Amino acid sequence: MSVLSDEALAGRAVVVTGAGRGIGAGIVEAILAAGGKVALVDLDRRAAEAAAAALDPGGERTLPLSGDVTQPATLQMAVTAATESLGPLSGWVNNAGIVQMIPATDYSPQKWEREFQVNVAGVMNGAQAAYRTFAGRAGAIVNIASNAGKVGFPNMAAYNATKAAVINLTRSLAKEWAAAKVNVNAVCPGSVATPMLREVADQLAAETGRTAESLFAGMVPAQLGRHITPREVGQVVAFLLSDAATIIRGQSINVDGGETPY
Ligand SMILES: NC(=O)c1ccc[n+]([C@@H]2O[C@H](COP(=O)([O-])OP(=O)(O)OC[C@H]3O[C@@H](n4cnc5c(N)ncnc54)[C@H](O)[C@@H]3O)[C@@H](O)[C@H]2O)c1
Repeated sequence: MSVLSDEALAGRAVVVTGAGRGIGAGIVEAILAAGGKVALVDLDRRAAEAAAAALDPGGERTLPLSGDVTQPATLQMAVTAATESLGPLSGWVNNAGIVQMIPATDYSPQKWEREFQVNVAGVMNGAQAAYRTFAGRAGAIVNIASNAGKVGFPNMAAYNATKAAVINLTRSLAKEWAAAKVNVNAVCPGSVATPMLREVADQLAAETGRTAESLFAGMVPAQLGRHITPREVGQVVAFLLSDAATIIRGQSINVDGGETPY
């Protein structure tokens, strides 16, 4: 079931980065349910192909592509291929991101820089590619930030800082590009059942001696009492891509089951 009508994104072609698994794949699923078309861009092309095949078995409304958000040229190639196959783009979701669990005292400049390259420069590269291809037509960009960008969790200082940067970049671009009819918003998920959250649990297990399964099971929003699903995040993203969200601008909306009260 979709919370949006199955025509809310009819005829809209959208790029989703990091779409091969996790939240990205959930976003693709929600966009398809709302009638849209999606180019799935991922570092892992096979994952993008597998996600597209699972969500759109006929392949009529998806295009899996390889791309690295830290390399603008690969995003430009994705834009060209997506436009040829799906038509002019009017939506872009900057979802690709990484997390490194490192105590603040132990960051090397390289590790710090890597997280900013993917999580912040990657979002800016995607936004620029989107703005250029919208070319004066109305369009919507949605950035996947995190509640970490508002709260700040221990042993992930770079991640927290990158996501705070995405929140303010979202405000900045919304203002700067309003005259060009480009709307920019973000969502701030927390505790979504994805491979990334499992990897965090695995790493904490190695450090604490607790089992990864019990740690993963404990990472749930208290008010919700369960993990958030990628599709649930995707439905909010699909709404923000739709014309119904035109009056929401430059916002970073919590989709974390009530964990963050601001
Ligand atoms: N899982 C959560 O609880 C959670 C919470 C808050 C925010 N987020 C954010 O949501 C987004 C997706 O997270 P997820 O949990 O689905 O992660 P994930 O690790 O499960 O999936 C991320 C996908 O992005 C791809 N990717 C990584 N680097 C890339 C690059 N340079 N270029 C292109 N693709 C790349 C990976 O190959 C992978 O397919 C991230 O930005 C993450 O920070 C996740």
